Amino acid sequence: MEAVREGKHLHSLFQYGYGGAVGWGTLCGALNGSLAIIQMVVGEHKHWDALGKKLMRWYESTPLPSDKSNEYAVKGMMYVPKEKMKSTKWLPSNISGSTLCHVSVGKWCEISGYASGSKERSERCGRLTGDVAAMTVQLLNTYFEKGLSAALALAADVRLSPTTASCRVCHYKGKDYEAGQFTRGYLACESCHRDMRPHAHTFVSLGGGHGEAGLKGPSWARDLAIAGLGAAAAAGVAAGVLAGSGSREDRGEEEKEG
Ligand code: HEC
Ligand code: HEC
Repeated sequence: MEAVREGKHLHSLFQYGYGGAVGWGTLCGALNGSLAIIQMVVGEHKHWDALGKKLMRWYESTPLPSDKSNEYAVKGMMYVPKEKMKSTKWLPSNISGSTLCHVSVGKWCEISGYASGSKERSERCGRLTGDVAAMTVQLLNTYFEKGLSAALALAADVRLSPTTASCRVCHYKGKDYEAGQFTRGYLACESCHRDMRPHAHTFVSLGGGHGEAGLKGPSWARDLAIAGLGAAAAAGVAAGVLAGSGSREDRGEEEKEG
């Protein structure tokens, strides 16, 4: 603040976001900066919250870098002059399924064959940052010109992943520990949790009271567990529809208490 009073600039504000916060691999730096800007210019809590959630899910589920940013880069139409770019190749795109730098970069390296320390990976993150900034600008322009619903409709098909919706039937920030309310978050659960065997007893006991017997699993118990997961997936579809119609989950009231 002293710097502002003295007429100097603050140090470039969001540089700490590189590599998912000082290289830690957590929230992608492009999202970190964009979410901050959205909050600063929108002001109204419910509105920046809804716009931010759209941006996060859009990032998780969209192939990046986009064809547009690849095209601009190849044609030398980027803000950065062509000779200063790390690469002018058309780079592979992928859907990260995660807002985490670690996951996003790792999956991209795997599909592209480029190492994390390569110029191409660095350029990929630059293009992706351009894409996230462009989406943010689109969201904000539409918000200020036509209102919140119009902005949210820009990415209308972008909701919680079906798996996340199904898990959040039980796992959300709430007061009933026994029912699974010892977690919080909207991130794509399936990007980390794949082995649902710990749930066998939950589903088996829901399905008919065999209790712990399901855990160590002869094949009949495993089948039952799988059937249970199917049911959870079905519940997820229902929850997804609810989320789309503006349920408590989608409005994100959970996050208010911080
Ligand atoms: C029907 C309610 C319900 C649904 C749906 C559900 N869970 Fe759970 N889950 C529970 C409960 C209750 C517990 C704690 C008791 C237990 O371990 O069964 C639990 C425990 C867990 C644990 C900890 C397991 C351990 O070893 O301690 C993980 C991880 C987990 N759930 C992930 C998920 C994920 C991911 C999904 C979505 C694919 C999901 N759950 C869907 C009710 C549910
Ligand atoms: C980035 C990876 C990641 C994602 C995405 C993720 N989890 Fe987890 N989750 C973890 C880790 C790591 C633990 C801790 C595991 C441990 O303690 O063994 C955990 C623990 C849990 C537990 C058990 C909590 C406990 O300590 O008993 C539950 C339940 C759970 N997660 C549910 C979910 C649900 C529901 C989602 C989606 C909304 C989700 N997770 C998304 C990584 C993730």
